[in-house]
Amino acid sequence: MFVIAGVSGNTGSVVANQLLAAGRKVRVVVRDAAKGEPWAAKGAEVAVADLGDADALAAALAGAEGAWLLLPPNVGAADVPAYQEQLTDAIVTAVGRARPGHVVFLSSVGAHLPSGTGPILALHNAEPRLAAVAPDITFVRPGFFMENWGGSLGALAQGIFPSFYDLDRPIDHVATADIGRVAAEALLAGPKGHRVIELAGPVAQTPVEVGAVVSALVGKAIPVVPAPIEALVPTFVSFGLSASMAGLYEEMTRAMNAGKLVFEGAPVRGIVPVDQVLGRLLGR
Ligand SMILES: NC(=O)c1ccc[n+]([C@@H]2O[C@H](COP(=O)([O-])OP(=O)(O)OC[C@H]3O[C@@H](n4cnc5c(N)ncnc54)[C@H](OP(=O)(O)O)[C@@H]3O)[C@@H](O)[C@H]2O)c1
Repeated sequence: MFVIAGVSGNTGSVVANQLLAAGRKVRVVVRDAAKGEPWAAKGAEVAVADLGDADALAAALAGAEGAWLLLPPNVGAADVPAYQEQLTDAIVTAVGRARPGHVVFLSSVGAHLPSGTGPILALHNAEPRLAAVAPDITFVRPGFFMENWGGSLGALAQGIFPSFYDLDRPIDHVATADIGRVAAEALLAGPKGHRVIELAGPVAQTPVEVGAVVSALVGKAIPVVPAPIEALVPTFVSFGLSASMAGLYEEMTRAMNAGKLVFEGAPVRGIVPVDQVLGRLLGR
């Protein structure tokens, strides 16, 4: 039986669906029982647990041959690093207690870097702590989620595609469908000790190239407009993010624009193109 967290989110939903499609027994972890109902209808067991509650999570993980776990965002947290550390503490405690046969954990590009990566630093800190309690662990380190481009699509109403990222620097983005597929394949393949899978999409693309895809999808030329990095924090705070979260995103964006947020080695390449992800986001 496989335990899957974050099933109402981007990656967890794909992992759970793929395992169910493969005929495997799945227990989903939700923090709101109502979000488990569609999964129960598909034949999954449902465990209600907050990832910050070590006792509830350990109970949810009991008897698992494999588990998909993540450090979900809490973009409104007043102190995001403290929130991430509290969740990490609980996940490490629960995994150490329940000892699932194999943990596949959603990490990130840049998790090998010790500083300057914004929200990714928490994953750098979490990886060795998890590895210490789970000898059979696979860290999936994807690049920038293609779905993040959705944050710029709201400005289509003003006829522009804005970017805080350097317009001509290729970004190794990846669809969450590819991440979920690779995670499900890793769970089905079973434990192989301590592994890291760096994962990117079929091709790295610049914001200008992504803007061209948007233009093609909406059927008119949409200019890609640089947004000054100094505007990032106030913009994200105006969207409802805490100052702490916005500050971490600014640090991460600066690292991307400086070419510092890169894979450690050559990533595995996914198959889902950005056209497909943006087409879905745009309802095309
Ligand atoms: N965005 C990127 O470019 C990027 C790149 C590399 C890695 N990552 C990693 O990917 C993560 C996000 O993954 P995702 O996109 O699959 O997730 P997502 O779509 O943001 O969804 C988060 C999921 O986790 C659940 N969740 C949130 N807080 C929880 C808690 N305290 N206890 C239990 N469940 C909780 C949510 O459930 P509810 O429905 O209850 O909210 C939801 O199912 C980031 O946090 C980061 O670690 C992101």
